[in-house]
Amino acid sequence: MQDNLNSIIMKDGISGAGRPVLTVRVPATSANLGAGFDCIGVALSLWNTFELYHVPEQKEHITIESYGEAADKLPKDHTNTIARVLFEELDETLGQTAPGPLKIVCHNNVPCGSGLGSSSTAVIAGLVFAHAIARRELTCENVDTLKRAVLSRSVEIEGHGDNVVPALMGGLVVVTRSANGRLLTHKVPTQNQRVVVCVPDFAFLTSKSRAVLPPALPRSDAIHNIGHAVITIEALRTGNLKLLSKALDDKMHEPYRFPAIPGAIEAREAALDNGAVAACLSGAGPGILSFVENSHERVGEAMKNCFAEAGLSARYWILDINESGTEIVLG
Ligand code: HSE
Repeated sequence: MQDNLNSIIMKDGISGAGRPVLTVRVPATSANLGAGFDCIGVALSLWNTFELYHVPEQKEHITIESYGEAADKLPKDHTNTIARVLFEELDETLGQTAPGPLKIVCHNNVPCGSGLGSSSTAVIAGLVFAHAIARRELTCENVDTLKRAVLSRSVEIEGHGDNVVPALMGGLVVVTRSANGRLLTHKVPTQNQRVVVCVPDFAFLTSKSRAVLPPALPRSDAIHNIGHAVITIEALRTGNLKLLSKALDDKMHEPYRFPAIPGAIEAREAALDNGAVAACLSGAGPGILSFVENSHERVGEAMKNCFAEAGLSARYWILDINESGTEIVLG
């Protein structure tokens, strides 16, 4: 008979060094894509993986082990975002308590504070763990139901649908709200499109990067963005790179954010000069996302050099659009 979460948690011999009861892989995302501020996002082929273990012999209610990106800086206890979201969701929303001492092991590849949605990956992991624990009947066959169940909660908690929704659903996603306030999402098919993302070592928290934005916009800027956002979607849907090269022009957030990131304006120019089709801020930054057909390394190095000239070290990743979104593996 198919194992479900309940039977796995109750089994002896899975504690400590045993196998996880649940593994969640969440992709990085790049939000906005130029003119699609707060409405468009895409999942990318860079992953954070979170394993949930039931550890009966452990004294603490929860422990967190992290490897990879920012491993030494992330909290190892209940103050960690994943643990906080897991327990708050279980207690306050689902009215349940955790089944016993838990350990979460995080393998992080998504750089923190980069504009690649690392905090979304933690929120999604915490929510998936909470909802999986609450509905013990979870099996491999009904993980999609679980993903749908955490969708609106993840937007409420994380606050940015253009990050969390593509991370859950995968691919290129438009996220907005219906007139009645309900979440409205639409996944748009894309052609294979490779990107290069360069991330400088520069602290530009989303809260700070939103504070630089003006509270209101001229109507002409809003009209400009509506047109460019629609063209961005159409260009990515059809793989029309010529159209994409004209689409990523924003008047809502980039004019205010680019100047606040040393070397970013130059890095975008260098990407375009070295063969990128189009480039924009990744999410709220400080990372820069370039759509690149060939010469991926050259574009990455060019962006990195611009940040170096501005006194910042930087790294780059050559990535594909991820279509699967969050992957949930039982046992
Ligand atoms: N759309 C959000 C912003 C994404 O640009 O502030 C935050 O990652």
